[in-house]
Amino acid sequence: MTPIDTTWLNKLRGRFIVFDGPDGSGKSTQFTRLDGLVKSAGIEVCEVREPGGTYIGEQVRRILLDPSNTDEVDIRCEMLLFMASRAQLVAERINPAIKANKLVLADRFISSTLAYQGTAGGIDVADILRVGQIALRNTWPDLVVVFDVDLPTARKRMSPLLRENEFDATHDRMEIKGAAFHEKVRQGYLDQAANDPERYLVIDARDDEDVVFDRLIKGLRAILG
Ligand code: TYD
Repeated sequence: MTPIDTTWLNKLRGRFIVFDGPDGSGKSTQFTRLDGLVKSAGIEVCEVREPGGTYIGEQVRRILLDPSNTDEVDIRCEMLLFMASRAQLVAERINPAIKANKLVLADRFISSTLAYQGTAGGIDVADILRVGQIALRNTWPDLVVVFDVDLPTARKRMSPLLRENEFDATHDRMEIKGAAFHEKVRQGYLDQAANDPERYLVIDARDDEDVVFDRLIKGLRAILG
């Protein structure tokens, strides 16, 4: 068997890449696969997930995803909490890792806030970017990979209760929002990519995970050369 050429992966050192997409897009599965591949090539990776990823951020995560808070959180408060958790993550983990020439792989980042609280939640996207400037200073991702999926496929990948539109306390606050909200979330990602094509890579994530991973690798190679 011909060994797979992984030398191109060296170009990932010192970069900051975000995986993002609607709930049920399969991004976390792809995240784990790329993470494994990169590490097997001897590249150091700093993995972060949002919301959370730091001691303070995990406490913010609990507030944000607690289904019993459904009616109480004002959308602007919600946006600022996501951003507060992110500011801590950037300062405590992302910036030091970039400085150490590691690949930073993030499962969600400001692109999630732009889609969920912006396009779907109704906050002006320009306002979120302004808050982002304060929270991130200059730490914007080099690349945002968006795993694009239609709602019926996304729902099939989520739990059986969600598929039937029945919810219990184990489902987080975002997942239990309705179909119209999630359609807007998807559109939010596509709009971001259309407005900033240099920084975004959209992957069609409707197929099975091997096919999607293949697309991801081809897309990354095309960008990194
Ligand atoms: P999580 O359980 O981490 O889900 P996933 O595995 O899909 O990433 O929950 C994160 C939820 O929070 C998800 O529904 C997206 C939402 N979210 C926002 O609404 N805004 C944000 O800025 C972030 C980071 C996440």
